[in-house]
Amino acid sequence: MKGTVLITGASGGFGVLFAQAFEEQGYSLLLHGRDKARLQMTLDSLKRPELHRTLLGGLSARKGVDELVERIMQEDDLVGIVNNAGFGTWGAFEMCESVPQLDVLRVDLLAPVMLSHALLPRLKRQNGFMINVSSLAGETPLPYMSTYGAAKAGLTFWSEALRAELQGVVRIVTLAPGPSPTGFRVVSGAPKGKGGLFSTSPSIVIEAAMQSLAQGGGYCVPGWRHKVLWCLQTLMPRILSLPIMARYLKP
Ligand SMILES: NC(=O)c1ccc[n+]([C@@H]2O[C@H](COP(=O)([O-])OP(=O)(O)OC[C@H]3O[C@@H](n4cnc5c(N)ncnc54)[C@H](OP(=O)(O)O)[C@@H]3O)[C@@H](O)[C@H]2O)c1
Repeated sequence: MKGTVLITGASGGFGVLFAQAFEEQGYSLLLHGRDKARLQMTLDSLKRPELHRTLLGGLSARKGVDELVERIMQEDDLVGIVNNAGFGTWGAFEMCESVPQLDVLRVDLLAPVMLSHALLPRLKRQNGFMINVSSLAGETPLPYMSTYGAAKAGLTFWSEALRAELQGVVRIVTLAPGPSPTGFRVVSGAPKGKGGLFSTSPSIVIEAAMQSLAQGGGYCVPGWRHKVLWCLQTLMPRILSLPIMARYLKP
């Protein structure tokens, strides 16, 4: 075994594919999530489930993050973290309950920062790596997913700054996908079809992330559709893009 990798949000979507990809490369996995049955399904999808473990817990409260850190501290050979757990809420800001929106900030931004701060000394010792699953939602303001966009913008900036600080010591991938068919849309409450034009399969997303990691880390926008979206986001002036996005995403 090449060491242990922690994957948060391993009970669905990208998390399952990350688990399969890291197993393929010979790592032992710690699979974290809240849903026991779905975590077990991830474990069952692996070739040698007996080599990996599941960890039940949430990340929206400080206690959940602390418990996870305490548990990981028992691992001698932690080499990587995939900060993948996350969700968004779709709808007009004042119409969405405040607790889920605060939880978006806690799970998508605060939890990766807290986990990484606690586990970095171990990753440095092992010349390890980190994949931070951000989003193109963090590239430009996102009307009707405003809090999610803010969380992912924060995550992208934090991850990119960290990548520069840790160059040559810990490999960091800041993964910035656009829409992809996982459980994400259903959880967010967004109707089917939003972002469909740019939809990219989860396997392309994970393949690009693994390739970026193999090349030493970087800012990774996977697949040509997401790259086109990213170009539009970065080239179009905000004065034009904001009203277009607002019209497109309006409930
Ligand atoms: N799919 C997309 O279009 C897309 C695009 C850009 C970025 N992303 C990002 O990709 C990451 C993975 O999402 P996905 O697309 O694979 O969606 P998904 O299928 O809904 O998976 C989300 C994962 O996050 C976990 N999670 C959610 N809330 C949690 C909490 N409070 N505590 C602990 N774990 C929690 C879920 O675990 P439990 O259900 O077990 O709690 C689940 O395993 C997220 O960070 C998301 O923002 C997705």
